[in-house]
Amino acid sequence: MKDALTLSRGLPLEELFVPLSSWYRENARPLPWRENATPYHVWLSEVMLQQTRIEAVRPYYARFLAAAPDIPALAALSDDRLMKLWEGLGYYSRARNLGRTAIVLCEQYGAQMPRDYAALRALPGIGEYTAGAIASIAFDLPTPAVDGNVLRVVCRLTADRSDVLAPATKKRITARLFALYEKCCRQAGDAATLTQALMELGEVLCLPNRAPLCDACPLAPLCRAREEKCQTEIPFRSPKKARKESHKLVLLLRDDKGRYAIRRRPEDGLLGGLWELPHIDLPTPSTEDGDALDRLAREFCRENGLLAAESTTLPPSKHIFTHLTWQMQGCYINVTQTEHTSRELLFVSPEELRTQYALPTAFAAYRRIIVAKT
Ligand code: ADE
Repeated sequence: MKDALTLSRGLPLEELFVPLSSWYRENARPLPWRENATPYHVWLSEVMLQQTRIEAVRPYYARFLAAAPDIPALAALSDDRLMKLWEGLGYYSRARNLGRTAIVLCEQYGAQMPRDYAALRALPGIGEYTAGAIASIAFDLPTPAVDGNVLRVVCRLTADRSDVLAPATKKRITARLFALYEKCCRQAGDAATLTQALMELGEVLCLPNRAPLCDACPLAPLCRAREEKCQTEIPFRSPKKARKESHKLVLLLRDDKGRYAIRRRPEDGLLGGLWELPHIDLPTPSTEDGDALDRLAREFCRENGLLAAESTTLPPSKHIFTHLTWQMQGCYINVTQTEHTSRELLFVSPEELRTQYALPTAFAAYRRIIVAKT
C-alpha cells in the first residue's frame, strides 16, 4: 500500500484549498478563455492546450472562434476547413472529434454541453481530463482535471516518488482529488477556482524540468518536497523507451503550371485522412545517397504517370511525434502530367495550399519551400 498523500507535517491535502484559492484569485493571468468561460470556450481551449503552449494556442483560439463562434457553427464546418483551422497544432484527431462532438451536441443536447461529468465523458474525444475541466471550470461541479501539471504539483506537495507517467499514479491522485473537491468545494465558484488554481500553480511556479519558484509559492509552508529539499527529484519518471525512427523521401513535384502534388493519407493510423506531400518510405537506417534518392524519386514519377525533368536535393528535416520520429530527405522535381497521372495525386497552387489545404506540421520545412514560391 502506498502511503496516503499528505502534506508537510502529515497535514491532509485539503489544507491546500484556502491558500491556493486565494492566491489564484489575486494572481490569475488574464487568458482569453477565462474572460467568458462558457462550456464551449472551456472545451475548445482545453482541447487546444493539450500538448501545446499557451502562447502558441492564443492565435489559433482567436481564429477558431472567429470561424466557429458557437457549437452549431462548429458542427457546420467542413472537415477541410476544420483541418485548416487546426493546421500546425498537431494531433488532428482532436479537431475531428471537436466537429463530431458538436454534431452530437446539436442532435442530442440542443446545441449545449451537458452539465454532467459522465455525459461529457461519453462524448467523442472528451476524456477524464477534459470532462473534469469543463465540468468544474464552466459548470462549477466538484470534478478535478488531472494533467501533467496537476500531477507534478500534487507529487511535490506530498513528496510522492511514484512514476508520474504510470496510469496507477494518475488513478490514485485523481481519486484523492475527487475526495478533496467533494470536501472543500462548498461555495459558488470554488470548483472552478480550484481547477484553474492547480493548473496555474503548475504553469507559473511549480515548474517542470527545473527548480520550482518556491519563494513565491502560496503552498510553500505545506510542501513536503520543499521540506525534504527534493523538489527537483519529483516528479519521478521511469526511463522511457527510445522512439522508433522512420526514414522518408519527401517529394515536391511541381507541374508545368507551377502547381504541387499532394495526396490524402489513409483514413486509419497516424495523421489519418489528412493531406500530405507524397513521399517514399526508405529503409531504416537510411544509407541512400543523392543519386539513389534521385533514382527513387524518378521511379515514383514513372509509377504515378508523371514525366520527370531535372531534380534538386532539398535539405533534410526531422519531425518528432509522441512515439515516432520521421527523418526526412527531400527532392524537388519538375514534372509533366500525362493521361496516366495517378488520380491519387492532386496538383494545387502554392496559394491554394496556403489558404485551403492543411498539411501536418511534419511537412512544415517542405511546405515553406512551396509557399515561398507564391
Ligand atoms: N493549461 C491547461 N488548461 C489551462 C487553462 N484553462 N488555463 C491555463 N492553462 C491551462
